[in-house]
Amino acid sequence: MSSITYIKRASQLITVRGGSKEPKRAQDMSDIGIIEHGSVVVENGMITFVGSDVEAERYVHTLNGHINTIDASGKIVTPGLIDAHTHIVFGGSREKELEMRLNGAKYIDILKAGGGILQTTTSTREATEKQLIQETSKRLNRFLQYGVTTVEAKSGYGLTLEDELKQLRAAKKLDERHPIDLVSTFMGAHAVPVEYKENPDEFVRLVIEEMIPRVAEENLAEFCDVFCEEGVFTVEQSEQILEAGKGYGLKPKIHADEIVQFGGAELAAKVGAVSADHLLQASDEGIKQMAKSGVIAVLLPGTAFFLMEKPANARKMIEAGVPVALSTDRNPGSSPTESLPFIMNLACLTMKMTPAEVLTACTINAAHAIGRADEVGSIEVGKKGDLVLFDAPNYQTLQYNYAVNLVDTVIKKGQVIVEGGALRDVPVPTT
Ligand code: NIG
Ligand code: FE
Repeated sequence: MSSITYIKRASQLITVRGGSKEPKRAQDMSDIGIIEHGSVVVENGMITFVGSDVEAERYVHTLNGHINTIDASGKIVTPGLIDAHTHIVFGGSREKELEMRLNGAKYIDILKAGGGILQTTTSTREATEKQLIQETSKRLNRFLQYGVTTVEAKSGYGLTLEDELKQLRAAKKLDERHPIDLVSTFMGAHAVPVEYKENPDEFVRLVIEEMIPRVAEENLAEFCDVFCEEGVFTVEQSEQILEAGKGYGLKPKIHADEIVQFGGAELAAKVGAVSADHLLQASDEGIKQMAKSGVIAVLLPGTAFFLMEKPANARKMIEAGVPVALSTDRNPGSSPTESLPFIMNLACLTMKMTPAEVLTACTINAAHAIGRADEVGSIEVGKKGDLVLFDAPNYQTLQYNYAVNLVDTVIKKGQVIVEGGALRDVPVPTT
């Protein structure tokens, strides 16, 4: 017998339809496919009906089996939110950095002095795979409560072959055992570890010749990312690493132009990256090239906020025709939050994106940024039944209320996981 979930009478059903083939750009980002008084039916985990309440009643009458009916009166229903950029698997914490930064230390200087990412590398190396799974589960549970149903997860706190594999294996097990779907990115080139400080090219060689082949062989990642930044990896090193990844089927992503203008956006276009992320300092030429090559800009306004920097120029990118996605960048140093809805608030308030654009950016465009646009990111027949009911009568209300959690219900593949804002018994993976 089929398992049927029927969500009816949404005040607005935000379908974000029409972007599954190509990410939405420019004006299309504002087209979020609203159905007023809409309903959705999910059968055996997949969406089988999307339409008006009246049509839905007729459709549901034709079905056999137990129907779990959810009344969404007074609420909006959106696709499950997608976070396309996180560093969620790590050990330890970095709270001391806040006071250091309040006293004037810069994020990059903390890293150059052996702290920052390198401190998390030490604690991640010390953690067992089991500990990483347990710690990360808690973060994933919080993500669920914020309406996030798919998360990208980068490695990059191991920086040895075995420790990178440990992080990626933890992510793979979490994908199998936790309700959230995880998509893995290998980011061995996140920082040059202390043991290679005097010989960074040797570390690049290790990434290219030993880590990438092994990650690909064990099928532990779909993407390869590099922190291309002054004092971290040069444009040339980044290109070598991303090209090597491509040779093993890992699609390129890049941490680009975060702190200084460095040619990261241009490199993203050159290597055909799926996304370039951060982009606070991206050049006009780089933005133009990204638009031409169809590179998605994954913007992280929470990171700019937390590091007290001016955010990326989202308006310029949208006007240039770059498809924009938004993410938390969840990590222990520059963005310790799972609240994607707060990131959406920040995108409106600090980057002047509109409430409609931010919904596109956290759904279908984010799905494209992690290669999942055929499965998730919109409410359309044939996609996974990943849905969020927000306690808001229209989509603008979601952005008008800031830093509050309006998530009422989260449905993952047709199953209710969050109800009345609270997690149902999610089996927390322990091994
Ligand atoms: O995307 N910029 C580089 N990497 C991460 C931060 C990682 C960390 O500080 O631990 C980022 O912001
Ligand atoms: Fe990042």
